[in-house]
Amino acid sequence: MTPPRTPASPSPILPQPIPYQGSKRRQVQVLLQYFPKDTQTLWEPFVGSGATTVGAAFSGAARRFVLSDSLAPLAGIWAMILNHPEDLVAGYTKLWQAQQADPRATYDGIRAEFNKNQDPVRLLYLLARCVKNSPRFNHEGHFNQSPDNRRLGVRPKILHMRVAAVHQLLKEKGAAFVGDYSLALARAGTGDLVYLDPPYMGVSGSRDGRYHQGLDYDRFVSELQGANHRNLSYMVSFDGRCGDRSYGPGLPDCLQLQKIELHLGRSSQATLSGRVEETVESLYLSPALRRRIDLSSSGLNSHVSHSVLRSPSDTSR
Ligand SMILES: C[S@@+](CC[C@H](N)C(=O)[O-])C[C@H]1O[C@@H](n2cnc3c(N)ncnc32)[C@H](O)[C@@H]1O
Repeated sequence: MTPPRTPASPSPILPQPIPYQGSKRRQVQVLLQYFPKDTQTLWEPFVGSGATTVGAAFSGAARRFVLSDSLAPLAGIWAMILNHPEDLVAGYTKLWQAQQADPRATYDGIRAEFNKNQDPVRLLYLLARCVKNSPRFNHEGHFNQSPDNRRLGVRPKILHMRVAAVHQLLKEKGAAFVGDYSLALARAGTGDLVYLDPPYMGVSGSRDGRYHQGLDYDRFVSELQGANHRNLSYMVSFDGRCGDRSYGPGLPDCLQLQKIELHLGRSSQATLSGRVEETVESLYLSPALRRRIDLSSSGLNSHVSHSVLRSPSDTSR
């Protein structure tokens, strides 16, 4: 029986080329502890800002990396980071400089253009400039988040350094595609690891404006069942709680996952409202992953607690 993993070491400062509120950057060190030593390819099919892929590449925790997202222009940003980083930075720089005279009008214009042409460069600019780096979509799927009028978004020089660093980490080892998470599950093999971080369930009713589409729970469970039958190693970030509020349902026992609770420290939002509340997120490990990393198999859904070191710049999602 393997004891719970040792506490995470402090996070190295990982470059984050895509400013994105749901980033898993502050959990990466913990997630890495559940990677099998012989991981061939890491698949990250809800990639967002790709914090886990970047952390894994930085640590040499897998040989290859496949990043995907069903939001086409977001997957497009990743394709540019991998294949045309200079074009991405040049395009961003042009938009960033164009806003100097009238930032608000420029933002509105770029947002309107993005909603017509779904251009990855424009999405990167909008993510960098919008409130809390947190995208919002209306019922028609249009990006409708407002700009943060106190700042102009990451400076092109800094963005250049981040993009170049991530390009360097992933070039020749990484690939990106647009698509549903089920495609990655179908393509992954038994020597791989799939990390799934889907949109939270039940945060704001059936539709969550933070993402261009919500998650179909029954289909997700059925996809994971299929992955179990194929002995896939995967881990899922899913539900969570803050104080006495729970976010989303958990994953069902029939999947035979091991649930680990990640203690993320005090919620900054609660602190702002004068309350002291801890944020806890659940991480689920698949049966094949548990066998591969020789975790304790005593008790399904047994709870292992894990604390995550918090850095001051982190935002919880
Ligand atoms: C919680 S975010 C992932 C954040 C990511 N872990 C990070 O570190 O930035 C969820 C992502 O899933 C994407 N998404 C939503 N539904 C999807 C689906 N059916 N298949 C693939 N991606 C999807 C969203 O566009 C969003 O980027």
